[in-house]
Amino acid sequence: MSAVYTIEVEGAGVAACSDAERVLVALERAQGLGKLKGLPRKLPVGCRRGGCGICRARVVAGQYRHDPMSRAHISEADEAAGLVLSCAIYPVTDLCLRFETSQLKKPNQRND
Ligand code: FES
Repeated sequence: MSAVYTIEVEGAGVAACSDAERVLVALERAQGLGKLKGLPRKLPVGCRRGGCGICRARVVAGQYRHDPMSRAHISEADEAAGLVLSCAIYPVTDLCLRFETSQLKKPNQRND
């Protein structure tokens, strides 16, 4: 039996995600259901396989497991700092994410 975790997108809302589901897929579903109203734009989705880097995000809190992520988009240092490709991670606890891509940033939002 799989566990279901809460995925919070900072300032945007929450999604439910099973431990067997890619976080980006759960977020897409939640956005389609109107549960991520705080996102200024549609979630960035590309290859959905950890290769294009468009779904880059920072895990602010929580634990996850992951499939391979392109080193062209997530270096070892990035990974150590909590940066991930959200299409390649699966929750093992509740998570809090912050999207890094400029496609989701609101005007004047800082890139910390
Ligand atoms: S959608 Fe391409 S790396 Fe996530």
